[in-house]
Amino acid sequence: MPDPGMADFEAIRAFEHAGWEQAADTYEASFATATRQFIPALLDAAGVGAAKADGVGVDGAGVAAGMRVLDVACGPGFVTAAAATRGATAVGLDFSAAMLRVARARHGGVVFDQGDAEALPYADRSFDAVVSNFGIHHVPRPVMALREAYRVLRPGSALAFTIWAAPDENAAWKLVFDAVRREGEMAASRAPAPGGGFRTPDDCRAALGAAGFGHIGAQRLTGVWRHADGLALLMALRSGTARMAALINAQAPAALPAIAADIDAHAASFRDGTGLAIPLTAFVATGRRD
Ligand SMILES: C[S@@+](CC[C@H](N)C(=O)[O-])C[C@H]1O[C@@H](n2cnc3c(N)ncnc32)[C@H](O)[C@@H]1O
Repeated sequence: MPDPGMADFEAIRAFEHAGWEQAADTYEASFATATRQFIPALLDAAGVGAAKADGVGVDGAGVAAGMRVLDVACGPGFVTAAAATRGATAVGLDFSAAMLRVARARHGGVVFDQGDAEALPYADRSFDAVVSNFGIHHVPRPVMALREAYRVLRPGSALAFTIWAAPDENAAWKLVFDAVRREGEMAASRAPAPGGGFRTPDDCRAALGAAGFGHIGAQRLTGVWRHADGLALLMALRSGTARMAALINAQAPAALPAIAADIDAHAASFRDGTGLAIPLTAFVATGRRD
């Protein structure tokens, strides 16, 4: 595959930036109800950890009191705030001013900085842990962001980041993609191809290795995302994401009821007394700066 040029990276960055600016005010009530479920596992995987005996992964003590922690692509700051609640000195970084406005209003006393994950505005070796909850795969050059995380970590400290598993393992995405294929137009979105596109533990391991990390590990995580019905799932993705929002917004308005109905028709196995209980699968990847 040809290496994308600078113009492509800039196009991805501009697309992501516009999408997250747009989503900031509605993110907490929509997509954050999925992402927040993975915060404890993320914080448990980062920090100052001993290498596991088999050399695979880090036996971290987890983010704990007294550590200096950086939350990259912090969005409205829930991970940053959770790290601070553990007694860490936590800093959240995001490139979206709108997300940072929400973060600062929501979590008084926590520090949030505007900046880009590919060029962190921090000194070398200045953090005991770096975390990113569903952020790294949105960056045009994820390995560059991971190299930056490596640079700002103290030796002996670990980075942890989460990604979503592929749609085949994530019913929420699969339901929407399949419904759009049947009732809408998959090619309608003008979103540039992602720079990251991480889907598997191997994708994470390769990127962490390329960024210089050692003692690399990846672990499967699960959750449940609740929605009243197919339309509610569609609206949550529309108001709380960048790429899925672009796909949904690109559909003809008249197609949306049929897309929602198709989701309902194919989500029967997730229905319980109060609506849809959709299983979520994610991975938390870890690497240590030795
Ligand atoms: C899915 S949200 C995750 C937010 C938060 N970490 C959470 O746990 O919900 C992705 C976030 O990545 C941020 N982001 C995307 N690309 C970025 C970049 N290059 N530099 C900094 N932040 C970025 C977006 O602004 C957005 O807040």
